[in-house]
Amino acid sequence: MRVAVIGQGYVGLTISSFASKHHEVVGFDLNSKIVSDLNKGISHIEGVDSKDIKDGIDAGKYKASSDGVDIFGAEIVVIAVPTPLDVDRKPDLTFIESACKVIAENLSGPALIINESTSYPGTIRNFIKPTIEKYSNKKFDHQYAISPERVDPGRDDYNQKNTPRLYAGLTPEATKRTREFYSSFCDNLVEVSSPEVAEAAKLFENTFRQVNIALVNELAQISHALGIDVRETLDAAGTKPYGFMRFSPSAGVGGHCIPVDPSYLADIAEKAGVQATFIQRANEVNLDMPKYIASRVEKDNGGSLKDKKVLVVGVAYKPNVADTRETPAELLINAIEKLGAVVTWHDPVVGSWHGKGSSALSGADIAVVVTKHDVVPADEILKSAPYVFDTTGKVKGAVQL
Ligand SMILES: NC(=O)c1ccc[n+]([C@@H]2O[C@H](COP(=O)([O-])OP(=O)(O)OC[C@H]3O[C@@H](n4cnc5c(N)ncnc54)[C@H](O)[C@@H]3O)[C@@H](O)[C@H]2O)c1
Repeated sequence: MRVAVIGQGYVGLTISSFASKHHEVVGFDLNSKIVSDLNKGISHIEGVDSKDIKDGIDAGKYKASSDGVDIFGAEIVVIAVPTPLDVDRKPDLTFIESACKVIAENLSGPALIINESTSYPGTIRNFIKPTIEKYSNKKFDHQYAISPERVDPGRDDYNQKNTPRLYAGLTPEATKRTREFYSSFCDNLVEVSSPEVAEAAKLFENTFRQVNIALVNELAQISHALGIDVRETLDAAGTKPYGFMRFSPSAGVGGHCIPVDPSYLADIAEKAGVQATFIQRANEVNLDMPKYIASRVEKDNGGSLKDKKVLVVGVAYKPNVADTRETPAELLINAIEKLGAVVTWHDPVVGSWHGKGSSALSGADIAVVVTKHDVVPADEILKSAPYVFDTTGKVKGAVQL
């Protein structure tokens, strides 16, 4: 099949690399640097091997493009563009809208259009289909489906092949064709009765994590106030063989999904007349963690951080990836700077961030560990400053969250 994947980021490139083993794939992206690197066989995404991209190019099965005409003959179009929040923390579908415009203006015939971008229930039916129809000069009878992406960057036990994939079309024909497409490279397909169920399930998966992370972060604060070790408490609770799932305290949530997706659910809930109070509270708790940590560090250091050299260790939002989107390290740095400290950061996996390079893991008055990558040894972190505060539970001997 001729497949166009709109967006060549974490999701789109991952799908392209799997799909191009079986189909002819055009990876469309507006970022010309990404497109040019991909066409040289250089992957910019952890978990997508440059060799796989190169093999696809050499076999004539993959090419990247930022020219809409290259999706001309596609029979299947997968949308994998960002779905962020706007300044009011409301769903921002402008990237989806611009993807719809490219699709509408360039397809040469009827296609199956599948959305993998995360959004609220009703997006494929009430936004993507009408938007494509609005921008189309020629009226093709496109089919529409949803198959939310569950990829977890940096993870190697679960991938596109063995992670169960939800799907549903707006019509039985769309559902059938979606199953045929994904079954060429996914082992476990789970059909649901409507696109809205698939869209809601994806949002709920991440909301479940957001709320539980907030709950354990609240427990960390309660435990500290009561003089109880939160991680030992969690270990103890984790001995119960049923009805308990462990989450760990942290500086907050980051990445493209957990800090963002629950607000898509809250927004559609509000439009339907239901207040998503858990989601709202979870957002508040997680977004406040950096301030809480800064105040703990301040208290432990004589009540003032003025002119103290503070090193934030690990600015990626999770271990062993270079992704800094929505990282809590950013809020933590702001909170510590507000208290008068001079803040630098160390993260060899990220390397460069906001135009600045990673600082040495030494010479600070205070180190605060946000993310512990495997390549940064715990004993080196402990030696980097006389006072080390650890939010990860992985640096034994440091002051723990
Ligand atoms: N990253 C994840 O782990 C993950 C997991 C599951 C779902 N998702 C969802 O998948 C979607 C994509 O996320 P991502 O992490 O791949 O984003 P990303 O930022 O890594 O990649 C998006 C790409 O889309 C391109 N783009 C933006 N607008 C475009 C347009 N109109 N046409 C073509 N290309 C365009 C950007 O240049 C970028 O390269 C989001 O809805 C996200 O919530 C992400």
